[in-house]
Amino acid sequence: MQPSFRPDILRLRPSPLAEIAALGRDDPEVLALWFGEGDEPTAAFIREAAKRALDAGRTFYTPPRGLPELRRAIAQSYRTTHGIAIDPERITVPGSSMLALHIACRTVLAPGDELLVLAPFWPNLRFAAELAGARVREVPLRRGETRWELDVEALARAVTPHTRALYVNSPANPSGWVMNAAEREALLDFCRSHRLAVLADEVYERVVFSDEPAAPSLLAAMEEEEPLFAVGGFSKAWAMTGWRVGWLVHPPELAPAMAVLAEVHNTSATSFVQYAALAALEEEGETFIARLRARLVHNRALVMELLGDHPRVELLSPEGAFYAFPRIAGIRDSVAFCRLLLRRSKVGLAPGSAFGRGFHDYVRLCFALSPERLREALLRLRSALDDRRP
Ligand SMILES: Cc1ncc(COP(=O)(O)O)c(C=O)c1O
Repeated sequence: MQPSFRPDILRLRPSPLAEIAALGRDDPEVLALWFGEGDEPTAAFIREAAKRALDAGRTFYTPPRGLPELRRAIAQSYRTTHGIAIDPERITVPGSSMLALHIACRTVLAPGDELLVLAPFWPNLRFAAELAGARVREVPLRRGETRWELDVEALARAVTPHTRALYVNSPANPSGWVMNAAEREALLDFCRSHRLAVLADEVYERVVFSDEPAAPSLLAAMEEEEPLFAVGGFSKAWAMTGWRVGWLVHPPELAPAMAVLAEVHNTSATSFVQYAALAALEEEGETFIARLRARLVHNRALVMELLGDHPRVELLSPEGAFYAFPRIAGIRDSVAFCRLLLRRSKVGLAPGSAFGRGFHDYVRLCFALSPERLREALLRLRSALDDRRP
């Protein structure tokens, strides 16, 4: 007898990004700019904290919602960077930020519901929403003269009686958009008037190219009882992508439910990793972030210099996160373009079509790697663009 698997599971396929990366992941000549991470290992002080925790025998289950001292330290970091008081009872550390997003999706989305998503957007979110049974409705950001912009009229046109929530990722992957204070107000008015829950993906909040310590957070603008889920994480600002640790801030009434959801999804986040995350917040993390931001400012300038003025390229300078999302004249199929570029030039980019409808002539590149490798990758990309074949 044939096993009866769920049809939606049988239909799952890796995103075009994963498909391209699989083609060149093991080739040492490839300069890979497809994933959202740099090329340096996590800082030594964080690795040392993990080793100390292991040597101290911190190998047991922790409370499902995370170590109390880590949750307190995350609350403290909101006080320092945003000047807001978040009760640690609202913070759950279930494992990765990806897992936190899954839990947030499960908490608000039921089969048949619709989730509004500002596009272009990070493809994994679609899977999280669809696995909860919901449908994603993409609402494009507007390409302004100098920056991407929120298009509230487009949001209003996309609402239906089934719309339950809105996903907003700022600073945004892949566009580099950072929601400004006016956009935050407009977005909030919209969500409140349509009684929508807000899934705020703030994993890049510390990666902004302004004098502020962080991008504006929705946590600072909403009351704690409102249906807001704000996801943060250690992967990006502290270069801890492989550690799988992030957090979810949720309304206080959900604390008991979060204990169950965290427990049944992951039992608890990895115990010694939580001690490493604590060190990231309490030891030299700020120095690390300052250095990362300085490197990214430099790298962003390199991208704008080497790519921004190419006649085939339209590129807005990113305001945050660490991606450039150029539109390239003459591309009809971004997946085919990325495949060819990988084969001929040994540069790994993410195809624009991974990030939503209408981005088939875009590519995404991550500029968090060392300036030397980035420069070489950009030069290879430039010469591929000069040669009009791809
Ligand atoms: C927008 C966005 N949200 C969430 C995540 C997940 O982060 P983590 O590695 O902490 O699970 C990523 C990772 O690339 C991302 O780009």
